[in-house]
Amino acid sequence: MSDQLTELESKLDQLQQDALGAIAEADSLEAIEKLRLRFLGKKGELSVVLKGMGKLEAGDRPRIGSLANEVKTAVQSALDGAKTRMERSALEAQLASETIDVTMPGDYRPQGRRHPLNSTIDRLLDILVGLGYTVASGPEMETDYYNFESLNTPPDHPARDMQDTFYLPDGNLLRTHTSSVQIRYMENNTPPIRVVAPGRVYRRDTVDATHSAVFHQLELLAVDENLTFGDLKGTVKTFLREIFGEIPVRFRASYFPFTEPSAEVDVQWQGKWLEVMGCGMVDPNVLKAVGYDPEKVTGFAAGLGIERFAMVLHQMDDIRRLYSSDLRFLRQF
Ligand code: DAH
Repeated sequence: MSDQLTELESKLDQLQQDALGAIAEADSLEAIEKLRLRFLGKKGELSVVLKGMGKLEAGDRPRIGSLANEVKTAVQSALDGAKTRMERSALEAQLASETIDVTMPGDYRPQGRRHPLNSTIDRLLDILVGLGYTVASGPEMETDYYNFESLNTPPDHPARDMQDTFYLPDGNLLRTHTSSVQIRYMENNTPPIRVVAPGRVYRRDTVDATHSAVFHQLELLAVDENLTFGDLKGTVKTFLREIFGEIPVRFRASYFPFTEPSAEVDVQWQGKWLEVMGCGMVDPNVLKAVGYDPEKVTGFAAGLGIERFAMVLHQMDDIRRLYSSDLRFLRQF
């Protein structure tokens, strides 16, 4: 056996030992890749050792060749084994860290709900839209003209006392009722008209269990040829029975500047007569104010307080609860 042969054999032995030792200690996939390059790479240690084969006698070469193959296989399988181990333990670590404990209590997600005022508005609108009405709106800051004058309520009219409001320095005011939307709508549309306008209104009232300086109204207006008080009654009764069920409804003669004749409507609710809205045939002066001919068209109108409906339907005793943002109260709806 030549010296070269022995030397190469021991170098290969050493290489295998070094490689297996280093692989055993490697602790990451990157480290293993580095070791692969170091030992088995094109310029790796095994290639360097094998360069020495040139000096061997031809008869010795096969022996070194097969030994080199064994070394290479051993190192390669050690690398593969280490790689598999490491991939598996990375996966296990990931699975362990992402485990869901299904017995943990869930997150509490507070659920929102519609405010009782909004749900009442929606309910009233649904019914009227079903009767063929379109929803309209107007500004909360109004001119004296739209809030009073055009509604047949001139400056010295006593009805103004009942609707004292908040005036702005420029003479405008916060609307006292949604009736102003009647005028704005009629100015921009021609009969036939079927319109409903919900919205916020303002009054200089002392706040108590049934009064608020800001509240909501819903206005109804129909203008067409040949509309009669019978149409008004039919519409109002149908509307109220949709809400309250088959209950007695009564019309009491009343007065509003913008309707003639006028009426207030009561429903019998839980044994008591309860006033729920004002209504009437649109006064000819109002029709004239928007350029309609009262000889050709007639109209009926109605107005109601939305809080009133919300309170009756939900058995509330104090209007202020509707504006309190008290969750204990609001969660009941
Ligand atoms: N605007 C009246 C108020 O605020 C309510 C009202 C009464 C509206 C009769 C109407 C109506 O359209 O016809 O007290």
